[in-house]
Amino acid sequence: MPDMKVNEKHVTVGKQFHDDPRMTMRNVNVFYGEKQAIHDVSIDIGKNEVMAMIGPSGCGKSTFLRSLNRMNDTVEGCRVEGEICMDGESLYNTKLDVVELRARVGMVFQKPNPFPKSIYENVAYGAKIHGLADSRIDLDEIVENSLNKAGLWKEVKDRLHQPGTGLSGGQQQRLCIARAIAVTPEVILMDEPCSALDPIATARIEELIKELSENFTIAIVTHSMQQAARVSDRTAYFHLGQLIEVNPTEQVFTMPEHELTEGYITGRFG
Ligand SMILES: Nc1ncnc2c1ncn2[C@@H]1O[C@H](COP(=O)(O)OP(=O)(O)OP(=O)(O)O)[C@@H](O)[C@H]1O
Ligand SMILES: [Mg+2]
Repeated sequence: MPDMKVNEKHVTVGKQFHDDPRMTMRNVNVFYGEKQAIHDVSIDIGKNEVMAMIGPSGCGKSTFLRSLNRMNDTVEGCRVEGEICMDGESLYNTKLDVVELRARVGMVFQKPNPFPKSIYENVAYGAKIHGLADSRIDLDEIVENSLNKAGLWKEVKDRLHQPGTGLSGGQQQRLCIARAIAVTPEVILMDEPCSALDPIATARIEELIKELSENFTIAIVTHSMQQAARVSDRTAYFHLGQLIEVNPTEQVFTMPEHELTEGYITGRFG
Protein backbone atom coordinates (compact mmCIF):
# COMPACT_ATOMS: atom_id res chain seq x y z
CA MET A 1 0.00 0.00 0.00
CA PRO A 2 1.61 3.29 -1.04
CA ASP A 3 1.81 6.02 1.53
CA MET A 4 -1.28 8.12 0.89
CA LYS A 5 -1.30 10.63 3.67
CA VAL A 6 -3.40 13.65 2.92
CA ASN A 7 -1.47 16.78 1.89
CA GLU A 8 1.32 14.77 0.42
CA LYS A 9 2.18 15.58 -3.17
CA HIS A 10 0.43 13.01 -5.29
CA VAL A 11 0.64 12.29 -9.00
CA THR A 12 -2.46 10.95 -10.75
CA VAL A 13 -1.76 7.87 -12.83
CA GLY A 14 -3.28 7.02 -16.21
CA LYS A 15 -4.85 9.17 -18.88
CA GLN A 16 -6.29 12.19 -17.14
CA PHE A 17 -6.01 14.49 -20.16
CA HIS A 18 -7.94 14.49 -23.43
CA ASP A 19 -7.11 15.53 -27.00
CA ASP A 20 -10.41 17.32 -27.50
CA PRO A 21 -11.43 18.66 -24.09
CA ARG A 22 -14.70 20.41 -23.25
CA MET A 23 -13.62 21.11 -19.68
CA THR A 24 -10.07 21.43 -18.36
CA MET A 25 -9.33 21.43 -14.65
CA ARG A 26 -5.84 22.15 -13.35
CA ASN A 27 -4.49 21.96 -9.79
CA VAL A 28 -7.93 22.27 -8.25
CA ASN A 29 -8.06 22.52 -4.46
CA VAL A 30 -11.32 22.83 -2.56
CA PHE A 31 -11.61 23.79 1.11
CA TYR A 32 -14.45 23.88 3.62
CA GLY A 33 -13.10 26.45 6.04
CA GLU A 34 -9.75 25.08 7.21
CA LYS A 35 -10.45 21.59 5.97
CA GLN A 36 -9.22 20.64 2.53
CA ALA A 37 -11.58 18.28 0.67
CA ILE A 38 -9.94 18.24 -2.79
CA HIS A 39 -6.17 18.13 -3.29
CA ASP A 40 -4.52 19.30 -6.47
CA VAL A 41 -6.80 17.63 -9.01
CA SER A 42 -6.03 18.00 -12.73
CA ILE A 43 -8.26 16.34 -15.32
CA ASP A 44 -9.92 16.99 -18.69
CA ILE A 45 -13.41 15.96 -19.71
CA GLY A 46 -13.63 15.45 -23.47
CA LYS A 47 -16.32 16.66 -25.82
CA ASN A 48 -19.19 14.15 -25.93
CA GLU A 49 -17.46 12.08 -23.34
CA VAL A 50 -19.10 10.33 -20.40
CA MET A 51 -16.76 10.57 -17.42
CA ALA A 52 -17.58 8.46 -14.37
CA MET A 53 -16.31 9.54 -10.96
CA ILE A 54 -16.05 6.84 -8.34
CA GLY A 55 -14.50 6.35 -4.91
CA PRO A 56 -15.31 5.69 -1.26
CA SER A 57 -17.87 7.82 0.56
CA GLY A 58 -16.42 11.16 1.63
CA CYS A 59 -13.57 11.11 -0.91
CA GLY A 60 -14.78 14.37 -2.49
CA LYS A 61 -16.71 13.31 -5.60
CA SER A 62 -19.66 15.63 -4.98
CA THR A 63 -17.37 18.45 -3.89
CA PHE A 64 -15.38 18.20 -7.10
CA LEU A 65 -18.49 17.88 -9.27
CA ARG A 66 -20.07 20.94 -7.66
CA SER A 67 -16.98 23.01 -8.36
CA LEU A 68 -17.51 22.41 -12.09
CA ASN A 69 -20.54 24.69 -12.26
CA ARG A 70 -19.81 26.86 -9.23
CA MET A 71 -22.46 25.17 -7.16
CA ASN A 72 -19.96 25.38 -4.28
CA ASP A 73 -20.42 29.17 -4.37
CA THR A 74 -23.68 28.51 -2.54
CA VAL A 75 -21.97 26.46 0.20
CA GLU A 76 -21.00 28.58 3.21
CA GLY A 77 -17.24 28.55 3.89
CA CYS A 78 -16.36 26.69 0.69
CA ARG A 79 -13.38 27.95 -1.31
CA VAL A 80 -12.23 26.71 -4.70
CA GLU A 81 -8.69 27.30 -5.99
CA GLY A 82 -7.04 26.39 -9.27
CA GLU A 83 -8.17 26.52 -12.85
CA ILE A 84 -11.55 25.32 -14.10
CA CYS A 85 -12.19 26.14 -17.75
CA MET A 86 -14.79 25.33 -20.34
CA ASP A 87 -13.73 25.69 -23.96
CA GLY A 88 -10.69 27.56 -22.68
CA GLU A 89 -12.66 30.12 -20.66
CA SER A 90 -12.27 30.28 -16.88
CA LEU A 91 -15.52 29.57 -15.06
CA TYR A 92 -14.30 31.45 -12.01
CA ASN A 93 -13.95 34.71 -13.93
CA THR A 94 -15.70 37.28 -11.75
CA LYS A 95 -17.46 38.78 -14.78
CA LEU A 96 -19.09 35.49 -15.66
CA ASP A 97 -22.87 35.27 -15.17
CA VAL A 98 -23.31 32.32 -12.83
CA VAL A 99 -26.96 31.77 -13.74
CA GLU A 100 -25.98 31.48 -17.38
CA LEU A 101 -23.08 29.19 -16.45
CA ARG A 102 -25.44 26.80 -14.64
CA ALA A 103 -27.51 26.57 -17.81
CA ARG A 104 -24.38 25.73 -19.83
CA VAL A 105 -23.25 23.27 -17.19
CA GLY A 106 -26.47 21.71 -15.93
CA MET A 107 -26.84 19.50 -12.90
CA VAL A 108 -29.00 16.53 -11.97
CA PHE A 109 -29.05 15.54 -8.30
CA GLN A 110 -29.38 12.31 -6.38
CA LYS A 111 -32.92 13.03 -5.30
CA PRO A 112 -35.20 14.15 -8.13
CA ASN A 113 -36.14 17.75 -7.34
CA PRO A 114 -38.86 18.96 -9.72
CA PHE A 115 -40.18 22.45 -9.05
CA PRO A 116 -43.66 22.55 -7.46
CA LYS A 117 -45.09 23.38 -10.89
CA SER A 118 -46.63 21.52 -13.79
CA ILE A 119 -44.61 19.10 -15.92
CA TYR A 120 -44.74 21.66 -18.73
CA GLU A 121 -43.58 24.54 -16.53
CA ASN A 122 -40.72 22.49 -15.07
CA VAL A 123 -39.23 22.14 -18.53
CA ALA A 124 -40.27 25.55 -19.90
CA TYR A 125 -39.04 27.57 -16.92
CA GLY A 126 -35.33 27.69 -17.77
CA ALA A 127 -36.00 28.28 -21.46
CA LYS A 128 -38.20 31.24 -20.50
CA ILE A 129 -35.77 32.90 -18.11
CA HIS A 130 -32.92 32.45 -20.56
CA GLY A 131 -35.00 33.94 -23.37
CA LEU A 132 -34.72 30.86 -25.56
CA ALA A 133 -38.31 31.01 -26.85
CA ASP A 134 -39.87 33.86 -28.83
CA SER A 135 -43.37 32.50 -28.77
CA ARG A 136 -45.62 29.96 -27.14
CA ILE A 137 -45.13 27.74 -30.19
CA ASP A 138 -41.34 27.86 -29.71
CA LEU A 139 -41.77 27.04 -26.06
CA ASP A 140 -44.10 24.13 -26.81
CA GLU A 141 -41.47 22.81 -29.18
CA ILE A 142 -38.65 23.12 -26.63
CA VAL A 143 -40.78 21.31 -24.04
CA GLU A 144 -41.70 18.49 -26.42
CA ASN A 145 -38.14 18.08 -27.72
CA SER A 146 -36.62 18.06 -24.24
CA LEU A 147 -39.14 15.57 -22.90
CA ASN A 148 -38.55 13.44 -25.96
CA LYS A 149 -34.78 13.45 -25.50
CA ALA A 150 -35.27 12.58 -21.85
CA GLY A 151 -37.44 9.63 -22.92
CA LEU A 152 -40.46 10.92 -21.07
CA TRP A 153 -42.69 12.51 -23.74
CA LYS A 154 -44.89 9.51 -24.44
CA GLU A 155 -45.59 8.99 -20.76
CA VAL A 156 -46.58 12.58 -20.01
CA LYS A 157 -47.88 14.16 -23.21
CA ASP A 158 -51.49 13.91 -22.04
CA ARG A 159 -50.80 15.27 -18.56
CA LEU A 160 -48.42 18.17 -19.23
CA HIS A 161 -50.33 20.52 -16.98
CA GLN A 162 -50.37 18.25 -13.97
CA PRO A 163 -47.78 18.68 -11.20
CA GLY A 164 -44.28 17.31 -11.82
CA THR A 165 -44.22 16.03 -8.26
CA GLY A 166 -47.06 13.64 -9.14
CA LEU A 167 -44.77 11.52 -11.32
CA SER A 168 -42.96 8.37 -10.17
CA GLY A 169 -39.37 8.73 -8.91
CA GLY A 170 -37.88 7.54 -12.19
CA GLN A 171 -40.17 9.82 -14.18
CA GLN A 172 -39.29 12.76 -11.93
CA GLN A 173 -35.60 12.14 -12.54
CA ARG A 174 -36.20 12.08 -16.30
CA LEU A 175 -38.19 15.31 -15.88
CA CYS A 176 -35.18 16.86 -14.15
CA ILE A 177 -32.99 15.70 -17.02
CA ALA A 178 -35.48 17.24 -19.50
CA ARG A 179 -35.34 20.46 -17.50
CA ALA A 180 -31.53 20.48 -17.71
CA ILE A 181 -31.58 19.73 -21.45
CA ALA A 182 -34.18 22.42 -22.24
CA VAL A 183 -31.63 25.20 -21.86
CA THR A 184 -29.22 23.50 -24.32
CA PRO A 185 -26.32 22.87 -21.94
CA GLU A 186 -22.89 21.81 -23.12
CA VAL A 187 -22.19 19.72 -20.05
CA ILE A 188 -24.50 17.78 -17.71
CA LEU A 189 -23.26 16.91 -14.23
CA MET A 190 -25.03 14.04 -12.48
CA ASP A 191 -24.49 13.22 -8.83
CA GLU A 192 -25.68 9.66 -8.20
CA PRO A 193 -28.73 10.22 -10.41
CA CYS A 194 -30.04 6.68 -9.99
CA SER A 195 -29.46 6.00 -6.34
CA ALA A 196 -33.12 6.63 -5.48
CA LEU A 197 -34.45 4.61 -8.40
CA ASP A 198 -35.46 0.99 -8.97
CA PRO A 199 -33.56 -1.21 -11.46
CA ILE A 200 -35.99 -0.54 -14.32
CA ALA A 201 -35.89 3.24 -13.92
CA THR A 202 -32.11 3.00 -13.52
CA ALA A 203 -31.77 1.08 -16.78
CA ARG A 204 -33.89 3.72 -18.50
CA ILE A 205 -31.63 6.55 -17.21
CA GLU A 206 -28.49 4.66 -18.19
CA GLU A 207 -29.83 4.19 -21.71
CA LEU A 208 -30.59 7.88 -21.75
CA ILE A 209 -27.06 8.83 -20.64
CA LYS A 210 -25.69 6.92 -23.62
CA GLU A 211 -28.07 8.69 -26.00
CA LEU A 212 -27.37 12.10 -24.50
CA SER A 213 -23.62 11.67 -24.87
CA GLU A 214 -24.11 12.10 -28.63
CA ASN A 215 -24.89 15.75 -27.98
CA PHE A 216 -23.58 16.54 -24.52
CA THR A 217 -20.58 16.05 -22.30
CA ILE A 218 -21.51 14.18 -19.13
CA ALA A 219 -19.81 13.74 -15.77
CA ILE A 220 -21.52 11.22 -13.51
CA VAL A 221 -20.77 10.35 -9.90
CA THR A 222 -21.87 6.86 -9.02
CA HIS A 223 -21.47 4.28 -6.28
CA SER A 224 -22.35 1.55 -8.71
CA MET A 225 -19.30 0.20 -10.47
CA GLN A 226 -21.59 -1.72 -12.82
CA GLN A 227 -23.20 1.56 -13.76
CA ALA A 228 -19.85 3.26 -14.36
CA ALA A 229 -18.83 0.28 -16.49
CA ARG A 230 -22.05 0.42 -18.52
CA VAL A 231 -22.27 4.12 -19.27
CA SER A 232 -18.85 5.76 -19.21
CA ASP A 233 -15.90 6.18 -21.55
CA ARG A 234 -13.35 6.98 -18.86
CA THR A 235 -13.46 6.51 -15.11
CA ALA A 236 -11.81 8.70 -12.48
CA TYR A 237 -11.02 7.16 -9.11
CA PHE A 238 -10.90 9.50 -6.11
CA HIS A 239 -9.47 8.64 -2.69
CA LEU A 240 -9.27 10.97 0.33
CA GLY A 241 -9.70 14.03 -1.87
CA GLN A 242 -7.01 13.03 -4.33
CA LEU A 243 -7.47 11.91 -7.90
CA ILE A 244 -5.65 8.59 -7.97
CA GLU A 245 -6.28 7.29 -11.46
CA VAL A 246 -8.09 8.12 -14.67
CA ASN A 247 -8.25 5.57 -17.46
CA PRO A 248 -10.58 4.14 -20.09
CA THR A 249 -13.41 2.55 -18.14
CA GLU A 250 -12.77 -0.96 -19.37
CA GLN A 251 -9.19 -0.75 -18.21
CA VAL A 252 -10.12 0.63 -14.78
CA PHE A 253 -12.38 -2.35 -14.15
CA THR A 254 -10.16 -5.03 -15.61
CA MET A 255 -6.57 -3.83 -15.23
CA PRO A 256 -6.42 -0.81 -12.93
CA GLU A 257 -3.08 0.91 -12.88
CA HIS A 258 -3.02 1.96 -9.23
CA GLU A 259 -3.30 -0.41 -6.30
CA LEU A 260 -5.75 1.88 -4.51
CA THR A 261 -8.09 1.67 -7.51
CA GLU A 262 -7.71 -2.08 -7.49
CA GLY A 263 -8.45 -2.22 -3.78
CA TYR A 264 -11.66 -0.32 -4.32
CA ILE A 265 -12.97 -2.17 -7.34
CA THR A 266 -12.23 -5.55 -5.80
CA GLY A 267 -14.15 -4.49 -2.70
CA ARG A 268 -11.25 -4.43 -0.27
CA PHE A 269 -12.39 -1.04 0.96
CA GLY A 270 -15.01 1.60 0.24
N1 LIG B 1 -20.78 21.67 3.33
C1 LIG B 1 -19.72 21.05 3.86
N2 LIG B 1 -19.06 21.59 4.91
C2 LIG B 1 -17.98 20.98 5.44
N3 LIG B 1 -17.45 19.85 4.98
C3 LIG B 1 -18.06 19.26 3.94
C4 LIG B 1 -19.22 19.83 3.31
N4 LIG B 1 -19.60 19.03 2.27
C5 LIG B 1 -18.71 18.02 2.26
N5 LIG B 1 -17.79 18.15 3.25
C6 LIG B 1 -16.66 17.23 3.54
O1 LIG B 1 -15.84 17.15 2.39
C7 LIG B 1 -15.42 15.79 2.17
C8 LIG B 1 -15.90 15.33 0.81
O2 LIG B 1 -17.32 15.22 0.82
P1 LIG B 1 -18.18 14.89 -0.47
O3 LIG B 1 -19.59 15.06 -0.13
O4 LIG B 1 -17.63 15.66 -1.62
O5 LIG B 1 -17.81 13.33 -0.68
P2 LIG B 1 -18.44 12.25 -1.67
O6 LIG B 1 -17.29 11.54 -2.30
O7 LIG B 1 -19.43 12.88 -2.55
O8 LIG B 1 -19.15 11.24 -0.65
P3 LIG B 1 -20.50 10.37 -0.84
O9 LIG B 1 -20.07 9.23 -1.71
O10 LIG B 1 -20.82 9.94 0.55
O11 LIG B 1 -21.54 11.24 -1.46
C9 LIG B 1 -15.99 14.99 3.33
O12 LIG B 1 -15.00 14.88 4.32
C10 LIG B 1 -17.14 15.82 3.81
O13 LIG B 1 -17.39 15.63 5.18
MG1 LIG C 1 -21.50 12.68 -2.82
